[in-house]
Amino acid sequence: MAIEEHRYLPRDWAGEPRPDDSDYRSTALRAPSHDPVAIPLTLSEITGPGALPTELDPIEADLTANAGTDGEPIGERIIVRGRVLDEGGNALPDTLVEIWQANAAGRYRHQVDQHRAPIDPHFIGAGRCLTDADGVYRFLTIRPGAYPWANDVNAWRPSHLHFSLFGPALPSRLVTQMYFPGDPLHAQDAILNAVPAEARPLLIASYDPDLSESEWALGYRWDIVLRGSKSTPETA
Ligand SMILES: [Fe+2]
Repeated sequence: MAIEEHRYLPRDWAGEPRPDDSDYRSTALRAPSHDPVAIPLTLSEITGPGALPTELDPIEADLTANAGTDGEPIGERIIVRGRVLDEGGNALPDTLVEIWQANAAGRYRHQVDQHRAPIDPHFIGAGRCLTDADGVYRFLTIRPGAYPWANDVNAWRPSHLHFSLFGPALPSRLVTQMYFPGDPLHAQDAILNAVPAEARPLLIASYDPDLSESEWALGYRWDIVLRGSKSTPETA
């Protein structure tokens, strides 16, 4: 076994979304049509790229202020907080966590999004932070609205935050989405439903009033597990 490769044992696909899902129509455009080829990880993949930024301005994790307009965005203020762990339950400090999202009306500040909802001049909809020594990340933001998409007739995406995380190395990179509890749109969302049913609850945050702090914001807790550091290998 290659050096440290045991940290990245093969994925358990039973809990992962299907690459090609007929109900999530655009997967047909990008799902591989051939079986994957196993390529051994190289030392640079296992050890790199390391920490990306080593320090970030705290305002980058405050999406209610990082537009820099001195105005308040419209919507329900929320705090999203959680821990980033590896598969062995170890905290992952200094991990870059990036989020992007629609505004309270369900509109992205992006040229491609032209649906009939207003842009919020005080809301960019993107932020980032580094996890602390206990693997904790925290964002202050606005709860995103639902928005329509072209997957099906009258299909609406439930409220969600997009997340991108860099763990200690390239194999631990994760791009995923966080959902809010109790949303009636979960049942008809083709993206959430592409994930096996037993794994879907892992993508839904918990309401946690203890996170509200003094920010006049609703608290949601969501922990994230990145690939890696399972168990010590039997052979080295
Ligand atoms: Fe989205």
